[in-house]
Amino acid sequence: MTQDELKKQVAAAALQYLKNVPVIGMGTGSTVTHLINQLADCDFKHDIEAAVSSSIKTTEHLQSIGIKVLELNQTGDLEVYVDGADEVTPHRKMLKGGGGALTREKIIAGASKKFVCIVDESKCVEVMGKFPLPVEVLPLSRSFVARQLAKLGGTPELRMNKDTGASYITDNGCEILDVYNLSIVDPIGMEQTINNIPGVITNGLFAMRDADVVLVGKGSEVITY
Ligand code: A5P
Repeated sequence: MTQDELKKQVAAAALQYLKNVPVIGMGTGSTVTHLINQLADCDFKHDIEAAVSSSIKTTEHLQSIGIKVLELNQTGDLEVYVDGADEVTPHRKMLKGGGGALTREKIIAGASKKFVCIVDESKCVEVMGKFPLPVEVLPLSRSFVARQLAKLGGTPELRMNKDTGASYITDNGCEILDVYNLSIVDPIGMEQTINNIPGVITNGLFAMRDADVVLVGKGSEVITY
């Protein structure tokens, strides 16, 4: 199977977690895109009253299949949040934000009782950090935060928008530093340390609020842990 077929397969396996859930939490990325496409055709779509979305892209996709999108401020805590990841460990710690939606993803994950992480097998790692760690920053703090990240042993690079040639701007009007060369042996410590740097909105480590269930598309099967 190709990586995209594995993503489609694991997205299909996640559908069962959304049955009988009136307000669903929805992440961002290509795996989630498959999930929303499959939601469009599933028999319980009309039982879903609304969704809370982690990005403008996901909001538009959900609305295009007829699912109403609410702000998190309009709902209580959610039963289920489903999202992909860029790396995930056997302990269900994740590195996320390759798609730039890390801050809203972390907020909705924090407000959800169950986080279902859906990945293809290429995302499974023992130690995170091979994928550059996204750190969302207030633009005015970018250089200062980059120097602090370098002191932690990382090599920060400002994410660029390939279309405009300017810096990539998140849905929150902020910028992202992608940090290379980190070996994240203490994910909770690293998550807290980076979040404590003034000017950081959040970073892509989901170690304090990790996943409750990980579904992995591997070969012709989906493994759950
Ligand atoms: C979005 O900001 C990310 O956290 C995604 O969840 C992550 O990048 C996984 O994306 P794919 O499903 O496209 O691999």
